[in-house]
Amino acid sequence: VPRIIFSARESGLVEQKSIEASQREHYDAIGSDYEAHYSDRWSLAYRDEFLLAPMFSGVELPGKKVLDAMCGGGQLAAFILDHGAEVWGLDISPVQVAALEKRCPEVKATVGSVFEMPFEDNSFDVVGICNALHHLHPHIDDALREIHRVLKPGGCFGFSEPHCPSLPDMMRKVWYRMDPLFEESEAAVDIGLVKSQVIDLFDFEHEVFCGNVAYIAVLNSMVLRLPLWLKPYYSPFLFKVERFLNRVLPSFLSCAVVCSWRKKG
Ligand SMILES: C[S@@+](CC[C@H](N)C(=O)[O-])C[C@H]1O[C@@H](n2cnc3c(N)ncnc32)[C@H](O)[C@@H]1O
Repeated sequence: VPRIIFSARESGLVEQKSIEASQREHYDAIGSDYEAHYSDRWSLAYRDEFLLAPMFSGVELPGKKVLDAMCGGGQLAAFILDHGAEVWGLDISPVQVAALEKRCPEVKATVGSVFEMPFEDNSFDVVGICNALHHLHPHIDDALREIHRVLKPGGCFGFSEPHCPSLPDMMRKVWYRMDPLFEESEAAVDIGLVKSQVIDLFDFEHEVFCGNVAYIAVLNSMVLRLPLWLKPYYSPFLFKVERFLNRVLPSFLSCAVVCSWRKKG
């Protein structure tokens, strides 16, 4: 029987294809629940204030070409449109792309993978990713090289992700193992490691560690199975607590990191 020997690069590609297939299947299946929990009034308000505002602070958006990569239902795309940019959206799940088209008909929406994007080199002024790179573990650096390719020189890459090492991540790992909602390929982003992998490609401009009570119970209400009707009652109070704790908690006690990088050259 002939033995087929794969190089490390080939087996990496095979693994990427299998992550893409399982992510497509997963997000096609949970599409409407995901949309309900992550796009209600309180989740959108959470993203705008705590993730997207710091991600794009100081970034010029009006008139710029912006890609919401791994866009899901296009919550980041909607924020960017409101700031006067021309927006593209890309996601591996046709169900999520349909949700984007419904939310923002003006966005140019495409089904495709962030590992191999259907865009020319140096196409975008800005690329944004909200809470999705952690689904690509352990191939995040391959996606970052592709993002670098489609960004114009000096272009901005903004993203927010659950981060590690942190105490919330230790608790999340136990939860991930017990909860069928999560795929095996998910893992919080070790931002120090990732930066060391792409140090020759990007300048790291700013980084904010954040996310505590409202990140868990408002943004991620679906994970905790909190009913949507309860959110208006507890969210305003948790937003106040979150604002205060974000000022005092160190990175080890924060759930997420928000970063803004610039393509070198
Ligand atoms: C947690 S959701 C985040 C969606 C959205 N960015 C948000 O803020 O809610 C992760 C998204 O990444 C998409 N995704 C996973 N792997 C992908 C890949 N290889 N290329 C493009 N999209 C991918 C999924 O289909 C899903 O819509």
